[in-house]
Amino acid sequence: MNTAKDVLEPLRHLLSLEHLPRAQLIALLDRAQCFVDGEGDRAALAGIAICTLFFEASTRTRLSFQLAAQRLGADVLNFDVSTSSTRKGETARDTLRTIEAMGVRGFVVRDNEDGSVAALAAAAGPGTALVNAGDGRSDHPTQGLLDMLTLRQAKGADFSRLRVLIVGDVKHSRVARSDLHALRTLGAGEIRVCAPPSLLPVGDTLAGCTVSHDLDAALEGVDALMMLRLQRERMEEGLVSSLEDYHRDYGLTASRLRHAAPDAVVMHPGPINRGVEITDEVADGPQSLVLRQVRNGVAVRMAVLETLLGGPLRPC
Ligand code: CP
Repeated sequence: MNTAKDVLEPLRHLLSLEHLPRAQLIALLDRAQCFVDGEGDRAALAGIAICTLFFEASTRTRLSFQLAAQRLGADVLNFDVSTSSTRKGETARDTLRTIEAMGVRGFVVRDNEDGSVAALAAAAGPGTALVNAGDGRSDHPTQGLLDMLTLRQAKGADFSRLRVLIVGDVKHSRVARSDLHALRTLGAGEIRVCAPPSLLPVGDTLAGCTVSHDLDAALEGVDALMMLRLQRERMEEGLVSSLEDYHRDYGLTASRLRHAAPDAVVMHPGPINRGVEITDEVADGPQSLVLRQVRNGVAVRMAVLETLLGGPLRPC
């Protein structure tokens, strides 16, 4: 008898989690868990070249993709925007097609414009795969996957009883959008969102979520908190009166955390604005999964690259 894994459509690119079928999402998490557990075929991408093409700054995503590709045996090129011919006006599309012509088959792309990675994917040749490593405020699918893997490790695979609270700058956060897609796909029991009105998105981004502006009330009984970074680089003036005010109203402190379930876990995609979104005591405390998220990022990115470029998923 066929299982769900047998009938999955092959993934060509990973641009968003929005329409990723539940079985495909779970297969990626399962495969990532294999890599966490030290299993899996480490040479799956031998002879394949992958380029990280980041038009925006990154520490975690870029380095973990690089490590993931190397662990799978791929050749990795790190495109340096500051010394590249983009400085002479070469477009992102021509840059991609040029590197593609050298035989590179995989691209990990970050850009500050919404939809730009999908536009590049549409311009790519038939044998090329793109991963969206973050486009504007739209999507950051591998962050969403690593957050789900981290939650699943901490709370189990049944998300139906999970109460998750997302706090902060949802308006500018691609991480929040990818997490929301994945939480809905995995059937999270309750998704709460807490932010100042100026940092909430318009449209249907928060469909099905319980929205609040009172952090203490929103925290009551939650199992998992996803704190968001204030995306100051994407923010127009005046959305937050001051960082001190923001921290007073929406910062996670140890005393506030006591409103959540006693075994609640705290996540943050990083980089953290310490003392703004979250105090040191919480970020570095026993309920924090921040560094586990980073560790899981390598495994998730191995699973994604292997799935796109290394043929069908294999059991551990
Ligand atoms: N979470 C995240 O995307 O971090 P970087 O910007 O450091 O890649």
